[in-house]
Amino acid sequence: MYADLHCHILPGIDDGSKDLEQSLAMARLAVEDGIRTVVVTPHHLNGVYANPAVEVARALRELREALIAEGIPLKLLPGSELHLVPELPAELAAGRALTLADRGQAALVELPVHTVPMGSEHLLEQIIAQGLQPIIAHPERNSELRQHPEILEEWVSMGCLAQVTAQSCTGQFGPQIRDAARQMVQRGLVHVVASDAHRDRRRIPHLSEAQRQIAQWTNQTVADLIAIDFPHRLIAGRRPDTEALTDALPPPRKRWWQRLVG
Ligand SMILES: [Fe+2]
Repeated sequence: MYADLHCHILPGIDDGSKDLEQSLAMARLAVEDGIRTVVVTPHHLNGVYANPAVEVARALRELREALIAEGIPLKLLPGSELHLVPELPAELAAGRALTLADRGQAALVELPVHTVPMGSEHLLEQIIAQGLQPIIAHPERNSELRQHPEILEEWVSMGCLAQVTAQSCTGQFGPQIRDAARQMVQRGLVHVVASDAHRDRRRIPHLSEAQRQIAQWTNQTVADLIAIDFPHRLIAGRRPDTEALTDALPPPRKRWWQRLVG
């Protein structure tokens, strides 16, 4: 059973689900694929949408009631996708920006699509200094991180986690993003797979196919940690055992010339 940590399922408050009907359709798709818990993650502070904690709580209550009325067995937890902007550390400290599942342990943060803005690392350090573990949302979809995975490597060594998007693994965003996802997974830079679903068509809340793909790229142990164990730990307010991930990763394959020289 999966817990999906990144999903725009709340109706009408960002670029995700447009209405209650679509949210219910997304919930049914999630349940069909074995998802039993969803952290709702509307955008916050991205320059277009502002969804402070109180607003998320209101929308969450309404959707929970609708799920019960429809008999859909999906548990919803509060959360946000937080744009990494200078005011974010203060917003988190003041409780206006939601941590993952409101546990005060981890925070899902997103970067712009193409760049890593100056000062990003300092902001991540400030969030870590508050005792929070930043989870970098879909680094494989950021052009600069694709070209310079060493930036992500540095952030992970600082204590950040990273979330790959399921559909990046299964190729819906094209071969370039799929390759980046594979490399980041194989290098141990990915800790969680989540759907980042926005709709009941195309960008849907499914995880099982991505888990199978990750198992092919690595092995079943790694896929289970990324798809099941770590997400469940995080919603319980516990830190993932990143050493277990490092230990389970297959060693990097040598290239033909490396094999020749031993
Ligand atoms: Fe998202």
